[in-house]
Amino acid sequence: MDFPNVDNLWLFYYENSKLTEFSNIPIPNEQVIEISKNFAPSLTIEGKRFQLTPSAKTEVDMYQVMKDRTSRPTPSLSGMTFEELSSLLYFAYGSKQMSTGKSAMTKRNAPSAGGLYPIELFFFAQEVEEIPDGLYYFDSPKNEIVLFDEQVNYEAVAECYVSDDPILNKNLIFFFCPIFNKSIFKYHNRGFRFVFMEAGHIAQNLLLIATGLERQALPVCGYFEYKVDQLLRLNGHDFSCVYTVAVG
Ligand SMILES: Cc1cc2nc3c(=O)[nH]c(=O)nc-3n(C[C@H](O)[C@H](O)[C@H](O)COP(=O)(O)O)c2cc1C
Repeated sequence: MDFPNVDNLWLFYYENSKLTEFSNIPIPNEQVIEISKNFAPSLTIEGKRFQLTPSAKTEVDMYQVMKDRTSRPTPSLSGMTFEELSSLLYFAYGSKQMSTGKSAMTKRNAPSAGGLYPIELFFFAQEVEEIPDGLYYFDSPKNEIVLFDEQVNYEAVAECYVSDDPILNKNLIFFFCPIFNKSIFKYHNRGFRFVFMEAGHIAQNLLLIATGLERQALPVCGYFEYKVDQLLRLNGHDFSCVYTVAVG
């Protein structure tokens, strides 16, 4: 094994985030409950709110959807219904139940280490029926979306990308933004791994739901973090965009 140095920081990190019998993680549950109180379940963001209306039951063959999923461009921009948007958000990362346990934690439609849900989801929407174009925040615990910037247009979003080919003609561009400390306070360095896994879970949900809706979806990492973070008003350090997915 190579000794970690500046050229393989990943290995240094990986070694230092492994679990052993001697690790002092996760921290005791009483501490988790106490510290968790410092983190609100969702962000306080001002703006017009819309309650999601996901479709009732739609029959799709799950295995066929998994086979059909592929990264696809969208040939031209056309309308999307609010119900489609609602289904994408609700089934990917919506909140589904209050647990009856002591913590009365809201569960979501994607797994999360310790049920801490560090990922916040933002998106740009264009040509979606019933809602204005602009930047939105998904308030998952309430299954609502919040329009917080109507001034942002497609060109402003495209500026954040290396090339706009993958996002061209997409109605929705989702931004996966962890509040790293929401996982790290409990799992320390190891928590940094978990946020990426969780972004992957939510993203895969989105890709499969989009495929089931016969939409084209594409994961995109060719973006400039500092520009996306600025667009979304994130500090870019302990709250930053780590992944984007475009659906149209
Ligand atoms: C983490 C990740 C980042 C990606 N970033 C880009 C990207 O920046 N631009 C792009 O065109 N495709 C991007 N893709 C899509 C891949 O090119 C695509 O998944 C791959 O070619 C496999 O094809 P498939 O998704 O159709 O199975 C990305 C995929 C993943 C998983």
